[in-house]
Formats: sequence, C-alpha cells, structure tokens
Amino acid sequence: MNRIALFGQLPRLGFAAAVIGGAVAASAQDQPAAPLYAAAQAERGQAAYRQSCQDCHGTSLDNGEFGGPPLKGGYFRTRWGNGSVAVLYGYVSLAMPPDRPGQLSPQTYADLVAFLLSNNGYPPGARTRNRTCA
Ligand code: HEC
Repeated sequence: MNRIALFGQLPRLGFAAAVIGGAVAASAQDQPAAPLYAAAQAERGQAAYRQSCQDCHGTSLDNGEFGGPPLKGGYFRTRWGNGSVAVLYGYVSLAMPPDRPGQLSPQTYADLVAFLLSNNGYPPGARTRNRTCA
C-alpha cells in the first residue's frame, strides 16, 4: 500500500524535498531548486487529469470552464509557490474534484500533484526509490 509519507515534513516547493505517494523522494543534495517526482508519475497524472480535472481546469490547465482557476503560471505560483508540496497535495486530495472530493486514490492524487508540478516548471527527478521517513 502506498502510504503518503509527506505530512510532517512540509517540504517547500522551492527546496526540493518531496515524498509524494511513496513513489517520489528527493534530497536537498540532488537538485537544490527542484522538488523531485518521477517522470512516469507526471505521465500517469496527466491521464488522471484528463479524466477528472480537465473539464473545469482546461486542456492546458489555464483554459478551464466552470470556474476552475488556472493550475499553472503566475496565479498558481503566487498561490502555491511559497507553500509546500504537502499543502498542495492536501488541498487537492481533500477538495478536488468538487463533485466527489477525496474519492480518488492517494496514488492518483500524488500523480496529479506531480503533473501540476511538471507543468509549473519543476523538473522530474532522477528515479529515486521509496525513502521511508519514519
Ligand atoms: C467541477 C469542476 C472542477 C473539477 C472537476 C476540478 N476542479 Fe479543481 N477547482 C475548481 C474550482 C471551482 C476551484 C476553486 C475553488 C475555490 O477557490 O474554492 C478549484 C481549485 C483547484 C485548485 C486550487 C487552485 C488555486 O490556486 O486556487 C487545484 C490545485 C485544483 N483545483 C486541482 C484540481 C484537480 C487536480 C482536479 C482533478 C482531480 C480538479 N481540480 C478538478 C473546479 C474543479
């Protein structure tokens, strides 16, 4: 099972320490300015995004209908760029999609967050295997 291991650590987006869904691990030495996630994770996130998020947030993440705010660019960065991956994950997994919040799997939410990060200029990391934090 994939335990979400990022709570309690609150890695900063700008600082590179993301452990999302147990599938991503990063250490500050690797790439100081980048949170890491596996490229494959962002790809899975893209598929999940098409299925569950695109109607409201748009095909390019900033051309949504039905009131979905842009999920990339200046607006997104202003809102989330100083926060942590954990906060973003927490928000998405608790609130999205609005018609059935929390109904996707933790892994899928993690993939979605990876997809959002990849669209906001955070590069995927080298493949890192589960790092257990406890
Ligand atoms: C039914 C339309 C709808 C769907 C589907 C939807 N969203 Fe949203 N999303 C919204 C709305 C509306 C807001 C703004 C909510 C608010 O400000 O209270 C929002 C806000 C967000 C935010 C915060 C954006 C910000 O900076 O304010 C994120 C991140 C997000 N959604 C991600 C997702 C993801 C990931 C999915 C797919 C699992 C998804 N959403 C599906 C309508 C939707």
